[in-house]
Amino acid sequence: MSSLNNKRVLLGVSGGIAAYKSAEIIRRLQDQGAQVRVVMTPAAQEFITPLTLQALSGNPVHTDLLDPAAEAAMGHIELARWADLLLIAPASADFIARLAQGKGDDLLTTLCLAHSAAIAVAPAMNQAMWRNPATQDNLAVLQRREVAIIGPDAGAQACGDVGPGRLLEPVAIVEHCADLFQTGSLDGKTVVITAGPTREALDPVRFISNHSSGKMGYALAEAALEAGATTVLISGPTHLTPPHRARLVAAVSAADMHAASLDALQNCDVFIATAAVADYRPNQVAEQKIKKTDSDSMLVELVKNPDIVAAVAAHKPKPFTVGFAAETEQVREYARAKLQRKNLDLVVANDVSQADIGFNSDENAVTLIWPAKEENLPQQGKHQLARELIKRIAAQLA
Ligand code: PMT
Repeated sequence: MSSLNNKRVLLGVSGGIAAYKSAEIIRRLQDQGAQVRVVMTPAAQEFITPLTLQALSGNPVHTDLLDPAAEAAMGHIELARWADLLLIAPASADFIARLAQGKGDDLLTTLCLAHSAAIAVAPAMNQAMWRNPATQDNLAVLQRREVAIIGPDAGAQACGDVGPGRLLEPVAIVEHCADLFQTGSLDGKTVVITAGPTREALDPVRFISNHSSGKMGYALAEAALEAGATTVLISGPTHLTPPHRARLVAAVSAADMHAASLDALQNCDVFIATAAVADYRPNQVAEQKIKKTDSDSMLVELVKNPDIVAAVAAHKPKPFTVGFAAETEQVREYARAKLQRKNLDLVVANDVSQADIGFNSDENAVTLIWPAKEENLPQQGKHQLARELIKRIAAQLA
């Protein structure tokens, strides 16, 4: 069963009598777990007010490309990057024509140009306008660009005509949207993902850890599920809700994660090590809380933890093994050295010197380091980035 859990949907509403149905589309998207933001064209505002859609979506409605207040809150490029899916519903004949022409003279068309993830349009117009060869040509252009066309329905129209062009019912539109995320590219495969930090105990109340939130690993688990894979998520302590179809294995320390990873290797086709595993742990774990002494310093001896992803890559048969490399300098060089040292098939190099990407942020930007090539994936939401990564891994296994 597909869903839109955790998906960010930017709903574009263009002008037409069906614009009032956008209110119900917002509700149905939210029923499926999506976060919704709304953009309205001037014509749409003639049919339904921004205030209604603001109240339903729980977010300010965006209407103008050149609105300094809106740009200060969330600029249009940020908005385009925020969305996992840009759904235009209803999409008028005029909007479809402008999208096909690649126009960028208002907020909604500009967002379509700036958005690099999925775009879907749900057309709504008079049956003669729908049948017009100009509209059909425009739709063919959009289909060639992999824009999903959802509907339309056929039947009685507001103008009294009968025929194709009615907006599909909101529930059906939302189901189509959920299906867009189900790629099936890893059907029949098993993917094991490590995520989050590890905690290395010093005593019963203290530990050494790091700032990993688990967001990147959980996003990958969701993307692997959407691709049809049986998904095992081995997670350090996080505050996140795991995707409900993933098998969650909780781990606290690197030793726990190491044992759980080796246990999960039977039938594992792909292993993705997103976790920020502590390289070292205290040699001794005090049984009781360590007491403060008069000394101004304290020495803690650390010993090396097992390298989980290297152990997985040494396993026979070897799954397709992907490591992440969190680096603050010489990012690509250090990442390539890890690819070779750990015998990995791919390393995802993550520059964690920037606060808005990497650790505990919603967005990331990475460089994929393959044995014979490199590819930059620009800054985007971790969910979208995860889907891009899974797509590339699936292509290797095909
Ligand atoms: O969790 P988030 O807040 O979303 O942040 C995501 C992230 C920044 C943690 C993630 O994108 C990331 O970069 N993860 C790798 C962090 C890391 O520990 O990198 P590393 O360069 O120290 O390790 C290299 C690889 O070896 C990693 O795949 C790591 O999982 C693995 N490793 C490291 C040590 C160890 N003992 N065992 C391992 O398997």
